[in-house]
Amino acid sequence: MSDTVKLKINGKDYEAPKGKLLIEVCLENDIHVPNFCYYPDLTPQAACRMCLVRIDKMHKLATSCTIEVGEGMNVTTESEELHDARKGMLDFILGNHPLDCPVCDKGGQCELQDMVFEHGTVYAHYNVKKNNTPEWRLSPFIAYDPQRCVRCYRCIRECTEVMDVNALGKIFRGTHEVIGPYGLGMDKEGMDKGYSLDCEQCGNCVEICPVGALLSVDSRFRSRPWDMKETVTTCTHCGDGCQMRLGTRGNNYVRVASKDMTGVNGEFLCVKGRYGCSFISNPERLTKPMIRRNGQLEEVSWEEALKFTAEKLKEISASSKDAVAVLGSPRLTNEANFTLRRFAEKGIGTRSFGQVADADWHQFFAHLTAPIATHQEVKKAKNILMIGGDATENHPLSGMVIRYAVRKHNARLMVVNSRRTKIARRQAKQFLHIRPNSEAAIVASLFESETELPRLAELAKVKVEQLQKLREQVFNSEELLIVVGPEVRGATLAALAQLAEVLNKQKERPIKYLPLATYNNTMGAIDMGLAPNGHSLMRAFGSQIQALYLAGSNPVEQYGTDWQIALKKLKFLAVADMFLTETAQMADVVFPVNSFAEQDGTFTNNTTQVQRVQRAIEGEGQVRPDWMVINALAREMRVDIGAKGSSVSIFRDIAAEIADYKGITYERIKKESAIKTTKILTKAREVVELCEDLRSECSRIDTSIDLNRTNVAQGEGLFRIGTMMRKSPVMHDAFVKDEEVQAATVNA
Ligand code: SF4
Ligand code: SF4
Ligand code: SF4
Ligand code: FES
Repeated sequence: MSDTVKLKINGKDYEAPKGKLLIEVCLENDIHVPNFCYYPDLTPQAACRMCLVRIDKMHKLATSCTIEVGEGMNVTTESEELHDARKGMLDFILGNHPLDCPVCDKGGQCELQDMVFEHGTVYAHYNVKKNNTPEWRLSPFIAYDPQRCVRCYRCIRECTEVMDVNALGKIFRGTHEVIGPYGLGMDKEGMDKGYSLDCEQCGNCVEICPVGALLSVDSRFRSRPWDMKETVTTCTHCGDGCQMRLGTRGNNYVRVASKDMTGVNGEFLCVKGRYGCSFISNPERLTKPMIRRNGQLEEVSWEEALKFTAEKLKEISASSKDAVAVLGSPRLTNEANFTLRRFAEKGIGTRSFGQVADADWHQFFAHLTAPIATHQEVKKAKNILMIGGDATENHPLSGMVIRYAVRKHNARLMVVNSRRTKIARRQAKQFLHIRPNSEAAIVASLFESETELPRLAELAKVKVEQLQKLREQVFNSEELLIVVGPEVRGATLAALAQLAEVLNKQKERPIKYLPLATYNNTMGAIDMGLAPNGHSLMRAFGSQIQALYLAGSNPVEQYGTDWQIALKKLKFLAVADMFLTETAQMADVVFPVNSFAEQDGTFTNNTTQVQRVQRAIEGEGQVRPDWMVINALAREMRVDIGAKGSSVSIFRDIAAEIADYKGITYERIKKESAIKTTKILTKAREVVELCEDLRSECSRIDTSIDLNRTNVAQGEGLFRIGTMMRKSPVMHDAFVKDEEVQAATVNA
């Protein structure tokens, strides 16, 4: 039987996959069908009836968003009858609509406005008093104006199906129906009880609301769509690398929206990407270089700061080049980290360089035996083995695409984790809840003989039958995606990177990996040659290392007193940052640098795709991009580092020097949006050798530690506040303000 059907639409012949929705066939073939409640990948709702079409032999008009294409169907999408029917539906919708377009944030980008415009004058036939309902502030991030709502229920389905949060539902009935926090019940007073939306605050319901009913609080009344410049760029928070449109007005941040359906993230963003970027316009941003004088940091000119730093670095490197350390960051662009490495190697000649980071991804790539999957490929996965990581909290896009594979394709998800993560509780078909830091035992169980399983089960505190089942599922899988969390380290990580080829020696099948790298440019920083060795270098501060140039990291805030004590031992500390962070406050020199929104460059995400960072605004004051500061410093030190005067020419050097980036250019990225680097795959070592390494890892498992039985709470990672979050006003007010007030009260 054929998998396609033949049908006629508006007199023209088409062929379409059997079972596909008629509206999708129309839209994919550029046949316009108006719609509100239809949304790609959400279950059909048939709530708005705007998508009506005429199908021969059906006695009534049909909703094309619920009808599957059939053999021989004859469809009409444009006629006077259909136009009148759709206009009638608009009449219903406008019956209670406030028509306050001039003050609505969505005005100019509103699907209802477009629809009314398309259908010509719609006369209000309902001469009844409008049901005036006040706006409702659902959370610090989201407001809801019930009167503008067209009851398409996209928001509820987005929250339930895509986010798996189930925070929204319908409240009240008939003309009083509103959208609100699920479970609020029929209590009208509930609407006055203040914030009640207990959810991930991703704002994806706001993004897909066709009208101005759901609104982002942080950008309300700040600009009109046509008065705002939108720049497509890459998120600066986690390793997933979502594409976003950064809306600015003049030189100020207005809002973040997702790019469109064409980015790696489709229309998805998480709370950090959507609401955690307003730090770029924070008045506390550093605008001038500073030098410490008499114990205080004082603003100085660039010339003075560069001269002072150059002299200090020359003086300290004169005795030993390795006495000067240079640390880049998984937060900086590839262009900045590349220039930093050149400065360390060519300019200073030190071997003490790398980045402040706490993962072993360089080990992973050194042992990789199968390709990395893109997020789109993850969506199609059929068997997923996820060892470590909490995608929901720390890699929200990865979490979303894994959920998609389970929801749409019934993917078999096997989760191994020492925490009871949400994905383990809700999507996993098999969950091995292991003892903290015992991943090595589980990985070993996939290499060792069956007789070793009781020993390994005891180490990980799981049942032997669970290990047997895991082996069976993994060994017999027809295809496999291996998701690796950042807590998997050392020999365990290296062995996991080799698992694909070992499995393929038993039975050939498509296997791919998805590494959950923590930061926006963790992968790029490694590619640029910066090993994540900051912590080991830190242990030499005050002895072999006497000076440090630190860019884009705040280890004092992130890792606490160890770093604070170590930094105090240095003779000289230069910090390049956007804010006077806890670490910058300890520096002898501070350089003010551009945020991701004020410069051009690239980030490489956890699927090894290189994407553009594009300048949306000019930096205030005298800020400069990191690479420019380094170039100026090298010039001041009279050392030749092959400095380039623009990010595009630095990237040309990257593509020429780093094999994985060969052939990638800004022009290509502009066309293709995201380009995967070429990762060279290695051959797997002998299984006996891998088992030997894993045995030594297993010997370090502390069997006195019991299982962590608490569920990961919503927001544990998503709402974790670092410098950029704390400096983004809406995030600060939602998650930090109360703590500060409490601390002030305690200290008073
Ligand atoms: S913000 Fe996200 S999690 Fe919260 S209700 Fe909207 S879609 Fe659901
Ligand atoms: S709030 Fe927006 S998305 Fe939700 S039902 Fe109303 S119009 Fe639709
Ligand atoms: S998932 Fe990651 S990259 Fe995407 S918006 Fe959130 S923090 Fe940014
Ligand atoms: S789009 Fe079909 S009924 Fe709403």
